Amino acid sequence: MQVAFITGGAGFIGSNFIRFILNKNKELFIVNIDKLTYAGNLKNLESLKDHKSYRFFKEDICNSSGVQELFEKYKPDYVVNFAAESHVDRSIQDSKAFVETNILGTQVLLQAALQHGIKKFVQVSTDEVYGAGDSTAEFTENSPLMPGNPYAASKAAADMLVLAYCHTYGLPGVITRCTNNFGPHQHKEKLIPLVIDKCLRGEKIPVYGDGLQIRDWMYVEDHCSAVLKVLEKGQTGEIYNISADNKMENITLIKEIMKQVSVLLPNDDERKLHINDSLINYIEDRKGHDRGYYINADKLVEQLEWQPAHRFEEAFKHTIKWFVENCD
Ligand SMILES: NC(=O)c1ccc[n+]([C@@H]2O[C@H](COP(=O)([O-])OP(=O)(O)OC[C@H]3O[C@@H](n4cnc5c(N)ncnc54)[C@H](O)[C@@H]3O)[C@@H](O)[C@H]2O)c1
Repeated sequence: MQVAFITGGAGFIGSNFIRFILNKNKELFIVNIDKLTYAGNLKNLESLKDHKSYRFFKEDICNSSGVQELFEKYKPDYVVNFAAESHVDRSIQDSKAFVETNILGTQVLLQAALQHGIKKFVQVSTDEVYGAGDSTAEFTENSPLMPGNPYAASKAAADMLVLAYCHTYGLPGVITRCTNNFGPHQHKEKLIPLVIDKCLRGEKIPVYGDGLQIRDWMYVEDHCSAVLKVLEKGQTGEIYNISADNKMENITLIKEIMKQVSVLLPNDDERKLHINDSLINYIEDRKGHDRGYYINADKLVEQLEWQPAHRFEEAFKHTIKWFVENCD
């Protein structure tokens, strides 16, 4: 049986990926390595706790001796690195943990992977490394990196380290750069769950600046299928952008969420009464806020034959329903 280390597997995308990959590949043993920061939640994986092909270890990827021990014990064939500090607002307040986990943590994993002759190392990165763009010129994998906030800068630095390990030591590393994800189990601090939560509580919804920033949305399960495709077929030293081309202004997305939450609540539910435009509260823009992200994912589609399996509208409604039913 082959072994895959999945780091950050208690977080939003990592937990969805573990469920996804265990369903798809019965021959893989999964070791989930997660520090369980505020963003990690083992409830995300409750259904797997007794699964025979799954183990969890609470470990910091920056702790090289702990990481080495796990490599020695399990001798993994693959590493997929999702572990990260991931919230831009937090990185603007204090970037230290971002530099530690996102850069140093990646270096610790790369070094261990190199020493143990790993077959494939997938670094899960983000479209934010390219910085803000516009609709006239989509970023390809060859575009320069112009990160616009400390989170994006730390992810860009990690990408450079991965490429350097490929080039210098021949490490079989690949990088994925995906757009904004949505789906079940996302942390409440992120835009879609935040707006749903505020609607259900009848609280003001903070909207940065004029709300006209453009983001490209990807259903988490489609991101998972793309990462699996890259794990199976990605070429050493290559980068693959991931997008399903669902671009939208933030304010349009927010209004659509409000509409869907309202539709889902029964007519006699008092919370329905509060959901109207008066909840929208425009606040000072985020510092250095990237106006829009525009990436081109043709390489993944053409070279690795990946396609998203979900239509945005259905995945979006399903996600909102999940949060309404699972709110606490
Ligand atoms: N969410 C998105 O829209 C998006 C888009 C593109 C790329 N990404 C990338 O995907 C990855 C996962 O994102 P997410 O949204 O699931 O993040 P998340 O914040 O929900 O989860 C991150 C996980 O990493 C763990 N972690 C943090 N520091 C750690 C450390 N030092 N050692 C071990 N574990 C640690 C946390 O406990 C948590 O479980 C990140 O690398 C992020 O940069 C996210």
